[in-house]
Amino acid sequence: MVQLQVAELGRVRGGEEQRAAPGTTQKIDQFLANERPALPCVVIDRDEVRCRYSLLSEAFPNATIFYAVKANPMPEVLAALAAAGANFDLASAGQAERCLRLGIAPDRLSFGNAVKRTQDITRAYRNGVDRFAFDSIAELEKIGRAAPGAQVFCRLLVDGKGADWPLTRKFGRDEEMAVDLLSHARALGLTPIGVSFHVGSQQTDPSKWHTPIATASRIFHGCAAGGVDLAFLNLGGGLPAQYRTPIPTLGAYAEAIEVALTQYFGSSRPQIIIEPGRYLVGDAGVLRSEILLIAKKSRRASIRWVYLDAGRYNGLPETQGERIHYRIRAPQRGGRCGLVTIAGPTCDSTDIVYEHSGYELPLDLEVGDPIDFLSAGAYTASYASVEFNGFAPILTYRI
Ligand SMILES: Cc1ncc(COP(=O)(O)O)c(C=O)c1O
Repeated sequence: MVQLQVAELGRVRGGEEQRAAPGTTQKIDQFLANERPALPCVVIDRDEVRCRYSLLSEAFPNATIFYAVKANPMPEVLAALAAAGANFDLASAGQAERCLRLGIAPDRLSFGNAVKRTQDITRAYRNGVDRFAFDSIAELEKIGRAAPGAQVFCRLLVDGKGADWPLTRKFGRDEEMAVDLLSHARALGLTPIGVSFHVGSQQTDPSKWHTPIATASRIFHGCAAGGVDLAFLNLGGGLPAQYRTPIPTLGAYAEAIEVALTQYFGSSRPQIIIEPGRYLVGDAGVLRSEILLIAKKSRRASIRWVYLDAGRYNGLPETQGERIHYRIRAPQRGGRCGLVTIAGPTCDSTDIVYEHSGYELPLDLEVGDPIDFLSAGAYTASYASVEFNGFAPILTYRI
């Protein structure tokens, strides 16, 4: 029987997380082998999600965890996390309704998107959601009209360095403006509670929380001087999954954050929120695709093009700019490996997964072989296009 092996193996994490590091689980592999699901698909192991939640709770005992629903909004994933005690960060009113339908109480929901349609604020507010992010006066005014009295927090601008998937530029306001906006919130009939930031997704440098925590503490002082007491600090997401490059341990992140909180807030620490998405579900899923075609561009070409049934528009959007480097598992028949360009199935030439990242796959690969993207539980199925080129959205299975 042909063995599936990781052709591009990044080192796994050491220490306490060794068991969860490979980016797949025995249950997922058994499911793929026994059920032979229709492809392409993403398979999520909820036990692994639960395990991540408990590791996270242990590492951050003094923080309240809000799972960022956008990372993987499968109802069964939300239900597993809800049962484990998680709260939920929302990007839309639709996500609020999905959580409410699962019986999750509205006081466990936070609307963290700083750009919202007024009707969506109203919808969420009427459903009992009482906590909203903003980063502009216009958004604050919208919330003031649509959700009178609601709790609001201001998102800070950060540089996003060190993140493989940065969230810079689009969101956040600088320190001075944050103080002005928070101080103005009361005049609009709102309840200013604090600040949030996001250091960028797949943040590989634990020290990147330091500067925004320092900024947040100055904003707390600035607001207090104007009579507005803040008591809420949302440290965002950013905790990484295990892709091709080694990453620091969860403990290293917890320690760096703890040191910064102690340095800047001392004994008057606000309520601390974390909003992980990728960390909780990334390593709990595998994306299995199938090879549709293997071809070379000329007789002399050394690089093979491997075309898959999954691609940039169906399950692998985070390979845009070749930013997220999944570990790839391919059948090994004992032969050598060679450089490949990996592409998706659509007629769009932007649908190239990896061209410049040095991926190698076995030379004896065949059309019809499975190709697995490991640690693919986050931002894969939830990003799939509805029907680009007529391809159905990638299937998802949970076990
Ligand atoms: C406001 C907010 N919170 C949390 C997250 C989750 O981030 P991550 O998946 O890096 O943990 C995101 C991701 O885009 C976000 O925009």
